[in-house]
Amino acid sequence: FPVLSVASECFPLIKTGGLADVVGALPLALEAEAVAVRTLLPGYPAVLGRLEGAEPVHGFEDLFGGPARLLSARHAGLDLLVLDAPHLFDRAGGPYADPRGRDWPDNPQRFAALSWAAAAIGRGALQGWVPRVVHAHDWQAGLAAAYLHYGGGPRPGTVFTVHNLAFQGWAPAYLLNELRLPSTAFNIEGVEFFGGIGALKAGLRLSDRITTVSPTYAREIATPEEGMGLDGLIRTRAGAMHGILNGIDEAAWNPAADPHLPTPFDAAHPEGRESSRTALRARMGLQDEPDAPVLGVVSRLTGQKGMDLLLACLPALLGHGMRLAVLGAGEPALEAGFRKAAAAHPGRIAVRIGYDEGLAHLIQAGCDALLVPSRFEPCGLTQLCALRYGALPVVARVGGLADTVIDANEAALAVGAATGLQFAPTTAAALEGALARLSTLWADRPAWKRVQTNAMRAPVGWERSAARYADLYRGLS
Ligand code: ADP
Ligand code: GLC
Repeated sequence: FPVLSVASECFPLIKTGGLADVVGALPLALEAEAVAVRTLLPGYPAVLGRLEGAEPVHGFEDLFGGPARLLSARHAGLDLLVLDAPHLFDRAGGPYADPRGRDWPDNPQRFAALSWAAAAIGRGALQGWVPRVVHAHDWQAGLAAAYLHYGGGPRPGTVFTVHNLAFQGWAPAYLLNELRLPSTAFNIEGVEFFGGIGALKAGLRLSDRITTVSPTYAREIATPEEGMGLDGLIRTRAGAMHGILNGIDEAAWNPAADPHLPTPFDAAHPEGRESSRTALRARMGLQDEPDAPVLGVVSRLTGQKGMDLLLACLPALLGHGMRLAVLGAGEPALEAGFRKAAAAHPGRIAVRIGYDEGLAHLIQAGCDALLVPSRFEPCGLTQLCALRYGALPVVARVGGLADTVIDANEAALAVGAATGLQFAPTTAAALEGALARLSTLWADRPAWKRVQTNAMRAPVGWERSAARYADLYRGLS
């Protein structure tokens, strides 16, 4: 069953967050469902530079200001279609911003081009391959549904997945023509959003089915509090909305065979964690105190992730005798806040600002608990990695965090089901409360170990969710 997936990121080629992990892992999981996914990505230098044996399979004479072509290649088990459009994508910096972190002013055109290419493929531009479904991810691919909807004639089914409602891809109305949208599209039933063009809105409004990455987030975004201006539309589309949890790539995140760890371990042999604990303290410059619990953070340092709340709780954290290892990058004020805390408490708080895949694995394996105090979290992947690696997730009870971690309350402890701690609301006071509960649990080491073993046995893979996506696709044709 042929499906075209279209997105702006895909692990292991280009990644800024969990979107890339999902886009890179889901196609492999769908193979077991007899769904054959090809993944369309922008031809950033980081992507083109890693392709081997790419073959041109289609050309566009003028794609939003210059010639472009589609290259077909295989990489890391993925069947890729890469949009080679140098005038849009051959630039230094990240996928969305220049090297100084400023968004490219022509992002509307860049991702409209990606969406246009997706729609063209959906309508049979490639010889010998026509997808039955076009599955678009986040605002960068949102206009694919619009191009297919307004293009007329037969078209494949469309699925749109919201990974984060906060990024909406808004563009001013005067771009309507340039983005090749008909004037009939500019109304509330189409692409119009707050007087301009909403790429995310278009995906939500015009796709046959919409999904988001957890059942709880699906409910939350239908409310005015969490709907970010789109809750009304989301409520009208309730019949088309599905909340399908993300998984993690269990081959890439496997503590029994992880090249970043000194000793392999798993649920049956958790004692192997001890050498990762030691290695983490050594690598991050934390004092060698085996009895002090080390809390970990692997995160974008942003308000969404509640990192300001964690900064506010550092005195309480240290007061419980806990240590902290932070890996992340993001808002300058938060980066500075963590740097300052590390400087003030050497050996007790350690911070690495930046992106480091290997250190992310070592933190998951070597910390005792992973903190995820998000204000909102569509799904979240780091708590899933933490479960598998035996770091107890301490999470805010929102979105996918609520759906994936079982709080160690009395009932869950009694039946042996607990896998971590949840707290609510997302405030510094509630986070402090969770740290106090964590400290109590740490003091009862046998109880802690039971929760840890449950965590490591919790299902975090793609199997169930891949089956749900496959059903969704098949239900469309
Ligand atoms: P989001 O996509 O909102 O940032 P997720 O939890 O869904 O959050 O996904 C984040 C992904 O990025 C995870 O794979 C996590 O391990 C990774 N990650 C985040 N920050 C870093 C970092 N500084 N270094 C390495 N990996 C990181
Ligand atoms: C977004 C969300 C995160 C989710 C990821 C993958 O980045 O912030 O919660 O896990 O997308 O769906």
